Amino acid sequence: MKVLCFGSLNVDYTYEVDHFVRKGETLSSDSLQVFSGGKGLNQSIALAKAGVETYHAGAVGEDGRFLLAQLQEAGVNTDYVAVLEDVRTGNAIIQNDREGDNCILLYGGANQAITPAQADEVLGHFQEGDFLVLQNEINELAYIMEQAHRQGMRIALNPSPMDGKIMGLPLGYVDYFLLNEGEAGQLLGQDAVKPAQGEGGQQPGRRMGKAVDGERLVKALSGKFPNAVILLTLGKEGSVCMGSQGFLRQDSYPVTAVDTTAAGDTFTGFFLGGILQGYPLQEAMDRASKASAIAVTRKGAAPSIPSIQEVERFPG
Ligand code: RIB
Repeated sequence: MKVLCFGSLNVDYTYEVDHFVRKGETLSSDSLQVFSGGKGLNQSIALAKAGVETYHAGAVGEDGRFLLAQLQEAGVNTDYVAVLEDVRTGNAIIQNDREGDNCILLYGGANQAITPAQADEVLGHFQEGDFLVLQNEINELAYIMEQAHRQGMRIALNPSPMDGKIMGLPLGYVDYFLLNEGEAGQLLGQDAVKPAQGEGGQQPGRRMGKAVDGERLVKALSGKFPNAVILLTLGKEGSVCMGSQGFLRQDSYPVTAVDTTAAGDTFTGFFLGGILQGYPLQEAMDRASKASAIAVTRKGAAPSIPSIQEVERFPG
C-alpha cells in the first residue's frame, strides 16, 4: 500500500509581528524567515516522518527546486512533482504574532497549474487500496478525486483552506475527513461556527462549551458522511473523532506555543500515518497530538515537524 499526497508546495515568508496588520495600517515586522511549507508538502513530510512510504505530487516553478530537496530529505518520493517553466512556485505570507498565532495570505502559483493530464499520469502509478491525501491548495481536486475513486484508492481530505469549491467536490468518496471546527461548521452549512486556532480556551466554562461543540459537530458530520472517519481538531481543546469505534476524545498536550503554523498538517500526517500503520484510532490521535504539540514549540512550517523518535519520547 502506497500513500500519495497530491498537494501544494509553498515558500513561506514568515514575519514576526506584534499583532496582525490591520486595514489601512503599515506595520514593521521584527524579523523575516523563509521556510518550506504548503499544506501538501507539510503533510507529506509528516506522513513520511510518521513512518509510511509517501509520494508527493504537485507542481513548483524553477524557484521551488529546494522544496523537492526538503521533501527528499524527509524520505518523501518526489518523482511526481512537476517543475514548470514560466510559473513561479506558490508562496505564503505568514504573520506570526507574540502569542504564536498566525494568519496566512496565499499565492497559488504553480499549485494552481495542475492539469488533468498530470493527474492521469500520476494516478496511473497507483492502484486499488492505495491512499490519496488531499488539501484545498491545488486545482483539479474534483478530477483527481473522481479518478482516484474510480481506481479504488482510499481518500483522505483536509478541506483547508475552506472555500466554496469544497462543496462542489464529490465528498461522498472521502474515507477520512480531517478538519477544524470552522471547516466542520461550513461543511454542515453552519457559517457561524468559528475555528479553534488562536482562541484562548483558558476558562473552564469555555472549555466545556468547545468540547460539547466538537462532539456535536463530529457527530453531525458523521451523520452526513456515514462511511467516513471524521477527525476534528479543536486546538488547545484536543481532538474528537467519529469512526469505527464510535466517539473518541483526545486531550492536547500543554506546551508553550511559539508558532502554530503547520500544527494541523503535523496532526494530519501523524494521524493518518498511525492509521496506515495499523494503530487503533485512539492511539493514532494520541501520537498526532504529541507530534503537533512538539511542532508548535518550533518556528516555521515543515522545519517544525518532529521525527517519530521525538514523538515517541514526548513528553519525556
Ligand atoms: O498549514 C500551514 C501552511 O499553510 C503553510 O505552510 C502555508 O504555506 C500554507 O499553505
